[in-house]
Amino acid sequence: MMVCEYKPGLEGIPAAQSSISYVDGQKGILEYRGIRIEELAEKSTFLETAYLLIWGELPSKEELEVFEHEVRYHRRIKYRIRDMMKCFPESGHPMDALQASAAALGLFYSLRDLHNPAYIRDSVVRLIATIPTMVAAFQLMRKGNDPVRPRDDLDYSANFLYMLNEQEPDPLAARIFDICLILHVEHTMNASTFSARVTASTLTDPYAVVASAVGTLGGPLHGGANEEVIQMLEDIGSVDNVRPYIQDCLERKAKIMGFGHRVYKVKDPRATILQKLAEQLFEKFGHDKFYDIAQEMERVVEEKLASKGIYPNVDFYSGLVYRKMGIPTDLFTPIFAIARVAGWLAHWKEQLAENRIFRPTQIYNGRHEIPYTPIEQR
Ligand code: SDX
Repeated sequence: MMVCEYKPGLEGIPAAQSSISYVDGQKGILEYRGIRIEELAEKSTFLETAYLLIWGELPSKEELEVFEHEVRYHRRIKYRIRDMMKCFPESGHPMDALQASAAALGLFYSLRDLHNPAYIRDSVVRLIATIPTMVAAFQLMRKGNDPVRPRDDLDYSANFLYMLNEQEPDPLAARIFDICLILHVEHTMNASTFSARVTASTLTDPYAVVASAVGTLGGPLHGGANEEVIQMLEDIGSVDNVRPYIQDCLERKAKIMGFGHRVYKVKDPRATILQKLAEQLFEKFGHDKFYDIAQEMERVVEEKLASKGIYPNVDFYSGLVYRKMGIPTDLFTPIFAIARVAGWLAHWKEQLAENRIFRPTQIYNGRHEIPYTPIEQR
């Protein structure tokens, strides 16, 4: 048997062959199916990009219309899912509510033939369509309100913002939100996608795949960092406090949220685009002092940590965008999940196409041949 070196966090170990996305961490390049992220952010929509990732090619006009139509008409959630969500504690985190609700969807759509294209399409449409409805429903129900019915005349992102705020969004805000979803939809073998692929490799249903990935995304080292970034900016409070705050983090060896990445050793290209989107929002809706704090943080972190390749990642500026849209902080990570579900499903489909169950090994460093000690003698 081949002897391999143990790499904590599987750093640098390929876990799959994939043609879905590509990252060059030295040059700061991200491509979905070969197309640069900057171009998609400028010209595409979230649903078109989701289609590209899942089916491998940009859709024709007609294919896109059919897909948009299918998603639009699967947005409603079942009464029983809604009633189940009503029983969740209001104080519970929306990511936990989303994970439970995504898993519960699987109760209604039992596993059929995983290789049947109609089953795959049906699952993809249903998950992409209902996850935003579930996030918005939990937000309203935890405030004691009834969920808002989706509006068929609104596109994907505008409808989500409408369901969340009970009013039609500003068109610029809706377009910026849609671009945010494009930027978050996919990112090679990140922790939640790996989790999705491991779950998929057992040939379970796609609802279990998504529920397991949602659980993985929520942690503060992964998608949960966007929520922590806003908390950090609020704790810092002013531009003058940035330098001492960072100095203190470095002395305590604490991680500065929204900075650093396993793959990028330069600024994450998504952070660059998100920063510009934040600026567009501030120009239209008024400046935000947290943006000044964020920029100062970027300057000081670069001064102190550029030698280690620590720069802003995707989670650093996204929170500023969502905050300016009036979205509560604990919905930032569920919004990441709304986008990433399409990436997870692309990986689910790719995994099934050439599946072998994930079953890595370990390096055992425990004891051997230990006699059993009766309980009275312990
Ligand atoms: C996402 O993988 C993906 O693609 C994820 C993602 C996606 O789209 O799916 O891009 C989304 O998860 C973004 C990352 C969000 N997380 C954070 O912002 C949390 C803060 N960042 C870190 O904890 C960290 O940078 C990670 C988790 C993102 C990466 O961890 P690694 O690769 O295991 O790196 P590490 O913790 O081993 O750090 C290596 C060195 C250490 O210094 P030394 O001990 O070698 O001297 O870099 C330092 C670390 O101390 N370092 C940081 C730091 N990140 C790394 N120092 C201060 N602040 C930081 N944020």
